Formats: sequence, C-alpha cells, structure tokens
Amino acid sequence: MPRLGVNIDHVATLRQARGGHEPDLLQAALVAEASGADGITVHLREDRRHIQDGDLWVLRKSIKTRMNLELAIEPAMVAIAIEVRPDEITFVPENRAELTTEGGLDVIGQRARVAEAVRRCQAAGLDVSLFIDPSLDPVRASADLGVTAVELHTGRYADATNPEAVQRELAALVDAGALVRRLGLTLHSGHGLNYANVGPVATIAEMTELNIGHSIISAAVFVGLETAVRKMKAAILGEAVTI
Ligand code: PXP
Repeated sequence: MPRLGVNIDHVATLRQARGGHEPDLLQAALVAEASGADGITVHLREDRRHIQDGDLWVLRKSIKTRMNLELAIEPAMVAIAIEVRPDEITFVPENRAELTTEGGLDVIGQRARVAEAVRRCQAAGLDVSLFIDPSLDPVRASADLGVTAVELHTGRYADATNPEAVQRELAALVDAGALVRRLGLTLHSGHGLNYANVGPVATIAEMTELNIGHSIISAAVFVGLETAVRKMKAAILGEAVTI
C-alpha cells in the first residue's frame, strides 16, 4: 500500500483567514498521524498564503512520521529547506497568481536552475523529489538529475470529465510510472486526488507515496480530520468510501 502524505496546507489557509492561531496546525498534523497518515506534507509558498516559516520548525520538531516540504526552486526557498532538513524536499513550479500548483516542474526548459537546487539539497544530504507531468521526457530529465523520487502530477487525471479521458490520463500515469521504476526512481503521485478517484492511482505498480490535501481537509469539515484520514487510507486500499 502506498504511503499517505497528508497535505495540511489548508488547515493553515483557514488559520490565515483570521491571522490568529486557530485551527492549530501542529494539532492537525498530530491528529493526521494518529489516524494513519504516513507523512505530513506542507507547501511553503513564496507568498506565504498558508504555511508560514515558523510552522516548519514546529512541525519538524514534533511530528513522528515523514515531513515532506514542497517548495519552488528559488535559492531563498532552497536555503530554508536546507535549514529545516525535512525528510524529503519536493520541488514544485510556482506562479504567484495560481490558485494551486498548475502543472509539473519544467525540468527540461529550466534544467540549469532545477539542477542547481537539487545539487544544493543533495550536498546537504537531503532527499529530493521533483513534481512533474506524467510523460516520458520529464521522467528521463529527472533521472538525469539524480533525484531519488518523482511525484507524478495527477491533476489532468483528476480533472478528466468522461470515462475515455479518465482512462487516457490513467494510462499516461501508468506509462510514466513504469519508466520511473525502470530508471530506478521512487514513484509518488498527487494533486486533485479524492476518495472517488484515488483507487486506480494507488494500484499503479510500486506506487510508493500519495500526497493528498484538499479533499481530506474538505471532508474533515463534515466528518472530522481523524475520520477523513482513516477513510482516505481505506480508499487507497480500494474500498468504496463515502463522506
Ligand atoms: N502534491 C503537490 C506537489 C502539490 O503541490 C499539491 C498541492 O499543494 C498536492 C500534492 C496536493 O494536492 P491536493 O490538495 O489537490 O490534494
């Protein structure tokens, strides 16, 4: 069964709406862990719209599972990652105007910048994953950079609106996943996954980690975070789950 990395960014989004301390981000991380999360994922965005720098230190000190820190390849962000020393760094593209991460990292067009960010993290002894579109060239380019893992962007699969499109996008994930494994990288996926669509992605051979945020935090509004995480674990195992 793939690991479930629970992305708690939107707990911080709610907190930032009032600028205070509620809901408490660490409490969310600890409840997620106690409910079966195998890791906690946070995205430190350059505009700091949800996760704040101080959150990273609080989480780093107190969570017991894996900490996956997502950030842009900007030198200032890389410096923060190296100081915090998460268990894993996932580099993502970032555009300030976007509502959420909108596509995979341009590992080919931005090769020199990505390579430098990867090099700095690896020199500090940190594991790096690259968030890329599920197609073959970005997978090859990622392997050339010597990263440990790639996270395939499941957004197009999640957004597919008819059965043929779903199958086509799933096939793209399966094909890219096969190449990821052949090239010796660890396979992660995420973005837009929910209780209804996670099952087929979870069964892709050697899928090691799924990072899921929005649908878990949305479900938590109705059923609480503990149930939301437990039900996502069940959905990953292929159970039909309703919220
Ligand atoms: N993986 C990456 C690299 C992301 O940037 C995000 C969104 O921050 C996610 C996974 C989680 O996506 P969602 O919130 O749609 O589950």
